Amino acid sequence: MKTYNIVMIPGDGIGPELLDAAVQVLDKIQELAGDFRLAYAFHEAGAGYYQKNGVNISPETLEAIRKADATLKGPVGLPGGRLPDGTEAGVLGGVLRSGFDLYANVRPVKLFPKVAIPLKDRPPGSIDYIMVRENTEGLYLSRGRGIITEQAASDTLLLTRKGCERICRFAFKMAMEKVPGAPEDGRKRVTLVEKSNVLRSFYFFRQIFAGVAREFPGVEAENIYVDAASAALVMRPEHFQVLVTENMFGDILSDLGGATIGGLGMCPSANVGDGRAYFEPIHGSALDIAGKNKANPLSQILAAGMMLDYLGRKKEALLLEKAVRQALEKERFGISSAGLVEGGASRVAAAIREELERD
Ligand code: IPM
Ligand code: MN
Repeated sequence: MKTYNIVMIPGDGIGPELLDAAVQVLDKIQELAGDFRLAYAFHEAGAGYYQKNGVNISPETLEAIRKADATLKGPVGLPGGRLPDGTEAGVLGGVLRSGFDLYANVRPVKLFPKVAIPLKDRPPGSIDYIMVRENTEGLYLSRGRGIITEQAASDTLLLTRKGCERICRFAFKMAMEKVPGAPEDGRKRVTLVEKSNVLRSFYFFRQIFAGVAREFPGVEAENIYVDAASAALVMRPEHFQVLVTENMFGDILSDLGGATIGGLGMCPSANVGDGRAYFEPIHGSALDIAGKNKANPLSQILAAGMMLDYLGRKKEALLLEKAVRQALEKERFGISSAGLVEGGASRVAAAIREELERD
């Protein structure tokens, strides 16, 4: 029996109920597969942990993540949890993404059946792209390093050759692997989102992108300015297969993408480096609905699916996604236009478990 060591971080707000739903689904998958086991180690970290301990994560938890096969994390954040510099104390991105050099933030944006969306006449399958967000540099390199005086404040955007090269290569490999191609024409396509009409750093990124693109003749490569990209992701999302972009642009555009597929509750993500990864929803801790049986746990459940895929359990990852699709198709639960689920996370988990059983 193959055992995978998994660190589980429930996080704040709706985090614990979401992670619990993901565990319900993962447990059923293990039971049905019968040939592997996920050994969970639960660790507290985030804003609540910061309020109690003055740090947002312990050295023991960091060590556990370092040694684990993967980590599944819930959203974090509480009001008032601010550092002296005004930024949020509970945020774990700095310590995990930069700390472990998890340079690729993989954010699938996929429209599932029967989900209410603000766009008209979009069948499932017409929105199915992956946003590859550079995760360790760009404007976020300035995290904790900005300069602020009474009269002015500055954060610097930095792109390195190494950082651009590896994220571009990652995106092209993803386009090679990803089935299907762009919904519009089935083609493999990587789109670099940049702002080289104004900023030199993005011309630098663009040139490196063009160099890497030459290594992948089977994949179409194109550039789009970030302002045009935000319009295109609403007006012709079917054009895109894989997008690659700077950290801050990727942060913003992935939420825009989420809004086109039923809200951020539909959005999982993977933070991947060489030999280490953690998985989480792209959204926050939604304190206003925490404990009220309203949260949509699909972001967390789909993140668990991405983790299975990363661990090499491709078959189980596909089964999980299929169960989600079928549960939605049969309207076993509804997602409101505000992105809420009646009956909440446990109801969604129960429906997905039943679909897995049936398969
Ligand atoms: C995300 C989140 C984080 C980010 C926050 C919580 C710091 O919005 O993962 O997109 O900005 O990267
Ligand atoms: Mn974000």
